[in-house]
Amino acid sequence: MKVPFSYLQRQFKQSESKDKLLADLIINDIRDFISTSDFTLGKKLEEFEEKFANLIGVKYALGVGSGTDALILSLKAENIGFGDEVITCAETFIATAGAIAGSGATPVFVDVNDEFTIDETLIENAITEKTKAIMPVYFTGNCPNMDKILQIAKKHDLKVIEDSCCAIDADIKGKKAGSFGNAGAFSFHPLKNLNVFSDGGMVTTNDENLANKIKLLRNHGLKNRDEVEIFGYNSRLDTLQAVVALRMIDDVKNVSDQRINNAKKLDDGFRDLKDFIEIPKRSPNVRQVFHLYMLRVKKRDELHAFLNSKDIEAKIHYPIALPYQQCCKHLNYKKGDFPKTERDCSTIITLPCHQHLRDEEIDYMIQTIKDFYLNHFDKADLPFKELNACTK
Ligand SMILES: Cc1ncc(COP(=O)(O)O)c(C=O)c1O
Repeated sequence: MKVPFSYLQRQFKQSESKDKLLADLIINDIRDFISTSDFTLGKKLEEFEEKFANLIGVKYALGVGSGTDALILSLKAENIGFGDEVITCAETFIATAGAIAGSGATPVFVDVNDEFTIDETLIENAITEKTKAIMPVYFTGNCPNMDKILQIAKKHDLKVIEDSCCAIDADIKGKKAGSFGNAGAFSFHPLKNLNVFSDGGMVTTNDENLANKIKLLRNHGLKNRDEVEIFGYNSRLDTLQAVVALRMIDDVKNVSDQRINNAKKLDDGFRDLKDFIEIPKRSPNVRQVFHLYMLRVKKRDELHAFLNSKDIEAKIHYPIALPYQQCCKHLNYKKGDFPKTERDCSTIITLPCHQHLRDEEIDYMIQTIKDFYLNHFDKADLPFKELNACTK
């Protein structure tokens, strides 16, 4: 049995109605759209922005070129740039720190907690007179401790730009990711929980001034056809992609529910492997949408190779800690600065958890992992908790 990490092949073969494939419905929508010639900004983008703002529960949603651009433009809109510092989590995709650097500011990393989000107890130590913002990341689709982060931001007069790129429809006690801070950034990359046929992103905010600034920044700073208010960029969400997204947005809740159900089945399947697998704590107050389903496991590299040999497309997000990448060399971090991030780099594994997984595929993953630990694992090795003891 082959268990793919990407669901794209299945997504567009999915039947929306009795005889129509999702792909055919979208092609029909695009055909109608082409006849309007309304290709930049325009009605369909506005329609999508309005629906997205409703989904997140904010006043404004502005479509931009990508999740990375959503972060960069949000920082720019808050006048954050050269000479400023932005605090973020050491465990994330490169785009978080890349966006901070792209704005001209310097990323300052803080270690992760056991649930793959920033350890908020370490944030205040990282604040200097140059700090202008905190960029918490909803890595894996889980939620950082936003109450605490907002308190810290208020105390030190800092902006909060949420990297909610992985967390469409995630929430804390019903309040959605991307609605807590000054701005939220979302990605519609093909492997995100709401995806388009290329790149795409969205800025969400309740701040009218910030929304107006994003509108200028994404469109060359143009106030109208003839007048330019500020220097800007070309980073509009393609209206064509808004057409694609409009067809999918009503399904977002089903997508997250399905992922949450799959994650629960996987969690339940691994509970009796405590000596080998650490399942991160699941908070009852958080709707974690499992853009990634990650576990900490013993003998990670061996398990990864074993799963791949059994046609299960497991992945590692990520094997090298971001502060130690070549691009961060000038920031002078050294081994030992981020113990939990470092631990994760050698122990985490990501399993397929997408909305198109079949029950027999989930069972196959659980059985294969049990087979690895119970029949192929060297039982003389240390159990998982001892492996981790040095970082506690
Ligand atoms: C945490 C995080 N931030 C930012 C991004 C950037 O989004 P995009 O690929 O749309 O630029 C991603 C994309 O994977 C991400 O995972």
